[in-house]
Amino acid sequence: MLYNAGIIGIGSYLPDKILTNADLEKLVDTNDEWITTRTGIKERRIAGENEAASDISIKAVRKAVEMSGLNVLDIDLIIECTVTPDMMYPATSAIIQNSLGAKNAAAFDLSAGCTGFIYGLTVANQFIQTGFYKNIVVVGCDVLSRVTDFTDRNTCVLFGDGAGAVVVSRTEKPGILQNFIGADGSGCMNLTLPAGNSRMPASLETIEKRLHYTKMDGKEVFKFAVTAMPKAVNEVLKKAGYEIKDIDLLIPHQANTRIIESAVKKLGIDNEKVFTTIEKYGNMSSGSIPVSFDSIYREGKIKKGDKIVLVGFGAGLTYGAVLLEWLI
Ligand code: ACO
Repeated sequence: MLYNAGIIGIGSYLPDKILTNADLEKLVDTNDEWITTRTGIKERRIAGENEAASDISIKAVRKAVEMSGLNVLDIDLIIECTVTPDMMYPATSAIIQNSLGAKNAAAFDLSAGCTGFIYGLTVANQFIQTGFYKNIVVVGCDVLSRVTDFTDRNTCVLFGDGAGAVVVSRTEKPGILQNFIGADGSGCMNLTLPAGNSRMPASLETIEKRLHYTKMDGKEVFKFAVTAMPKAVNEVLKKAGYEIKDIDLLIPHQANTRIIESAVKKLGIDNEKVFTTIEKYGNMSSGSIPVSFDSIYREGKIKKGDKIVLVGFGAGLTYGAVLLEWLI
């Protein structure tokens, strides 16, 4: 017998500092018009000097746990989905476990690029369905500004920092209705952070060549995304026996407005059902979907019984979607 899993708490946190397109004009050869028309981004948030992934994650986690009404000692597992952990090890989730006082929770980090939160929700669902765990915190967080080359106009206009978290618990009714995750490793070199690990340990040379920053073939990632996003949505709907008309809300990964518009067109979903935050926050990698999710919840636009699809793509290249029913 499988148990049901659903979201019972949600929260997010965004750093205070705002970096506008006008600010970027002072750093690289770009302009507001290019950034707005090519990406849809107007501004993004940048973590403070002392804010690492765990610091912004814990603020989102506390809000989600408070909303859930759970005692922190009842949390069985913390999954931090990120490509910008505080350090390679210990896991950022273990740092969060300690700050939260969630002494009974296991903790691990999950790396699936910008699809991290979708992968994290999928993993959490399996643990709950099998009865292995009852209460899991899933965090999507990235501090991309720390791995962004602010002399490279091809990437620095895209990224921002932020964290969102949910509490997934065993529920009476099913809240997580279906999941789909996939990967196409043949495109793995299109989005990389080359230096600082076992392939290319940090050295003076790697620093001089700026290899500790994100490198991206934007056109290739774009091509992947416009196919992967609709594919992931269609797969998750098919597995659940749903059609696109049954969906009340689509929350896509926020990488580029043109990617979202293309997916919306291919899927044939009404524009009003698609929620975006990209204009204000840019691409926060694993943070984008849960921050957008929490924003729309706080705006009072989600009602009990709504069917919601979350969909993402990212480094790997990975992609995936989750179909939810909002239970609260
Ligand atoms: N300002 C002004 N001009 C620019 C800028 C800029 N910031 N960036 C690039 N250009 C120039 C280019 O140099 C090029 O000039 P050229 O024709 O003289 O060579 C021209 O603009 C067009 O460049 P393109 O790369 O063709 O621009 P494109 O329309 O493809 O948009 C973009 C680039 C925005 C990066 C797009 O390809 C994209 O969004 N790709 C997907 C990125 C993405 O989703 N990444 C996900 C990251 S996921 C994760 O895990 C972190």
